[in-house]
Amino acid sequence: MPDILSPMDTAKFVAARRAADFVESGMKVGLGTGSTAAWLVKCLGEMVREGGLKIRAVPTSTRTAALAREEGIEVITLAEAGWLDLTIDGADEFDPDLNLIKGGGGALLQEKIVATASDRMVVIADASKSVEALGAFPLPIEVIPFGWPTTSALVEETLCSMDVLGQKVVLRMNGGEPYVTDEGNHILDLHLQRIGNPRQLALVLNQIPGVVENGLFIDIADAVVIGHGDGRVEMHDISTGASEEGRVELAESENIFRDLKE
Ligand code: A5P
Repeated sequence: MPDILSPMDTAKFVAARRAADFVESGMKVGLGTGSTAAWLVKCLGEMVREGGLKIRAVPTSTRTAALAREEGIEVITLAEAGWLDLTIDGADEFDPDLNLIKGGGGALLQEKIVATASDRMVVIADASKSVEALGAFPLPIEVIPFGWPTTSALVEETLCSMDVLGQKVVLRMNGGEPYVTDEGNHILDLHLQRIGNPRQLALVLNQIPGVVENGLFIDIADAVVIGHGDGRVEMHDISTGASEEGRVELAESENIFRDLKE
């Protein structure tokens, strides 16, 4: 195993590598955003360049689009694709029903649109993302910049009547400025500690004027591939009930690590 990867990176890599096996030639594939999804893009890039894989991909952020192009993957827009066969993306948390918190990387809006427009969504994550109940990770919501403090106050007021433990709302910053998403919006991070009813919260948050979308992905993901620091991977498919365990041999992917060594 290349000692160039930390156990955390190994876990992310092996989850991504296993999930890449679900991708077949001819597919239109949604590419997630974040450090785990970046490994997926690298794996798919290698499969395109060296294995003859032919796919068209819809990235969920400008960052992922740039990486996919760099890797030689054909990039199309969601408008061009219309509908996707498969989306593979990371998550900040997933619960036993495969409901997710996403948006730690600020790309939740495109991620949710793309995942929803897919026959199948597969989550890739290291084991630390698995939780019994969502909410320890702050829930990101995307809001339009116009009147954001009013939107934030309305969100806080709404949280008072929701089944959550915390109610703090924080505007995400980037240096000294509010963080700006690919769609030109801001992000509010909701520190809820524990979300009792994610489905209800997701519906209620989207009713607030100024809220564009929330980072709760309810009934969207079909399967999760969980990576471990020692190279083991677990796959659980909640749509079929199937589970499997295996191992990814990192030595077979030496090419992907070449640029890390340089
Ligand atoms: C991006 O907005 C997020 O939804 C990511 O998918 C999520 O934050 C997981 O990121 P990592 O794979 O970097 O943990």
